[in-house]
Amino acid sequence: MLKGLIFDLDGVLTDSAAYHLQAWNDLAKSIGITLPPAANDALRGRSRMDSLDLILAYGRQQTHYTLAQKQALAASKNTHYQALIKQMTPADILPGIVPLLDAARAAGLQLAIASASKNAPTILTQLGLMDRFAGIVDPDSLQHGKPDPEIFIKAAETLHLAADEVMSFEDASAGVAAIKAAHQFAVGIGDATVLAAADVVVPTTAALNFAALQQAFTAQ
Ligand code: BG6
Ligand code: MG
Repeated sequence: MLKGLIFDLDGVLTDSAAYHLQAWNDLAKSIGITLPPAANDALRGRSRMDSLDLILAYGRQQTHYTLAQKQALAASKNTHYQALIKQMTPADILPGIVPLLDAARAAGLQLAIASASKNAPTILTQLGLMDRFAGIVDPDSLQHGKPDPEIFIKAAETLHLAADEVMSFEDASAGVAAIKAAHQFAVGIGDATVLAAADVVVPTTAALNFAALQQAFTAQ
């Protein structure tokens, strides 16, 4: 029986994934790297340092930087990103999300956040959504980033629910892989080809419908 919903944040509740990408693109350019179109999905869901490593790999520059230099690059991206998200308000919640959260609450479901971002609490506060979530996984508590299942396993644990009692939402292929590795029901939001491993894929959050999702979950 469905008892809880687990949400990625960036690209699911709000379009902050676009700000991450913009800040990474600018950082990459500053060190002479042009990101390929595939980076749009590949960078989604990855921790800050995993993202930087991927960018340096795109530029074949993995060995050019010391750990301290990499930390400085990651900090510079984060400063830029934080400036971009400063203006976010509840108006930046993506279409379909508030009705979904309302329907879940009316059905007595528990909600949790499984975001790799250390900026997640700031964004949730700016969106006015902080009080909706009973559990928020602290990314600093994780040994492994997405696509490892750890964050989704921990999110279900914060709600005291089993893997087969939750439905998890993601916009990244690494995130969908993490959900499936955690043996949970996956809802992908985005390109059906990229997110083919999900149990259900919708093109945008506007197409999320609680009754239809509940039916798909029951029918699995
Ligand atoms: C994920 C984003 O939610 O958080 C990634 O999809 C991002 O793009 C990661 O790199 C870490 O975010 P932050 O804010 O801790 O740098
Ligand atoms: Mg995401």
